[in-house]
Amino acid sequence: MSSPRAEAVLRVDLGDRAYPITIAAGGLGGLGGVVAPLAGGRRVGVVTDARVDRLYGEEVRSSLARAGLDPEWVVVPEGEGSKSLDTVSEVLDRLLAARLERSSPIVALGGGVVGDLGGFVASILLRGVPYVQVPTTLLAQVDSSVGGKTGVNSRHGKNLVGAFYQPRAVYAAVGTLLTLEDRDLRAGLAEVVKYGVIADADLFDWVEEHAEALIRRDTSCLLHVVRRSCEIKADIVARDERESGVRSLLNFGHTAGHAVEAVTGYGTVRHGEAVAMGMVFAARLSREWGLASDDDVERLMALMGRLGLPVEIGAVEREAFLSAMAGDKKVSGGALKFVVMRGIGRAEPRSVAVDALPETMESAVRRGLLAWA
Ligand SMILES: NC(=O)c1ccc[n+]([C@@H]2O[C@H](COP(=O)([O-])OP(=O)(O)OC[C@H]3O[C@@H](n4cnc5c(N)ncnc54)[C@H](O)[C@@H]3O)[C@@H](O)[C@H]2O)c1
Ligand SMILES: [Zn+2]
Repeated sequence: MSSPRAEAVLRVDLGDRAYPITIAAGGLGGLGGVVAPLAGGRRVGVVTDARVDRLYGEEVRSSLARAGLDPEWVVVPEGEGSKSLDTVSEVLDRLLAARLERSSPIVALGGGVVGDLGGFVASILLRGVPYVQVPTTLLAQVDSSVGGKTGVNSRHGKNLVGAFYQPRAVYAAVGTLLTLEDRDLRAGLAEVVKYGVIADADLFDWVEEHAEALIRRDTSCLLHVVRRSCEIKADIVARDERESGVRSLLNFGHTAGHAVEAVTGYGTVRHGEAVAMGMVFAARLSREWGLASDDDVERLMALMGRLGLPVEIGAVEREAFLSAMAGDKKVSGGALKFVVMRGIGRAEPRSVAVDALPETMESAVRRGLLAWA
């Protein structure tokens, strides 16, 4: 049995909806102890994907059993395809058939896909039941499990159906990251670098100093980045839960990143890989606008390179990329809300006319800031 030792407990300060983020160095042995106090009876629903179920199903079952809980287990296929309304309907059906009650918590056990799906199911099941995020990918531990954005994709686009619905607890066991595919680990590190760029130059420096140890999955290094990232995200969410202000900075690299994901087809490029390309794109436009320096752009690119992340969007067809950017769900009145950097550690939103984008990109290409096939 792995140790339930908590290395850190942080708090997302949202008044009467505040919740703890437990960061554990080991595995999932302590999960039952976090879920039990939230449950009105013995029943809980567990939503997970097939791979995570194979790797951690048994450990979680026995932890829940030790805490006196009786889980209804729902396994969905792994991958972005499970973030669909069809899957929502199947999961709801299973949980309703099992007669879960309003006081039965849902445990979302897995990466961002299961977290977004499970959270959304919890938000609508019996008009809302408590849920616990148990992120098992780096991306989910540093980003998607905190903040209450839940939802699924529609054939009209990504994350277009969903709700803001905060979990009652987050339980991040860093030991689970040891089984991640290398590509998923690297993709998660892109979001860590993002926090450095938008809010914390020290974190950026730290990742520069520890890039190789992170790739090697040194536990204390992973603990540090998960903890620091959660602190930053929790602080931003507490100040702006519904993204009317500072929370929009978390979209740094995401406007172009989402366009890359849309053009290449969801699931081909990892979300974090698309964000890596999008951050470099945003840094180059920031340079083009005179907000960031050559040195800032070079540092960001060098770090991405050492983390094994892609930086060039150039292989993506340019017209398709531009039209995907123009179709972003954050476009309003012909203007795109684009996050720019003003050096490492400082970012701000900037409104960019969609019509002006091609010319801005042309000019950046002419100055050698952007390369496009
Ligand atoms: N809600 C938010 O605020 C938010 C923020 C960022 C991203 N997201 C969403 O998150 C999703 C991406 O999340 P992701 O990158 O975690 O993808 P994912 O959930 O698909 O997980 C990636 C792969 O890793 C596997 N996996 C999970 N844990 C594992 C482990 N411990 N060991 C081995 N394999 C494991 C999964 O089975 C899957 O095959 C996207 O849908 C994105 O839109 C949401
Ligand atoms: Zn992201």
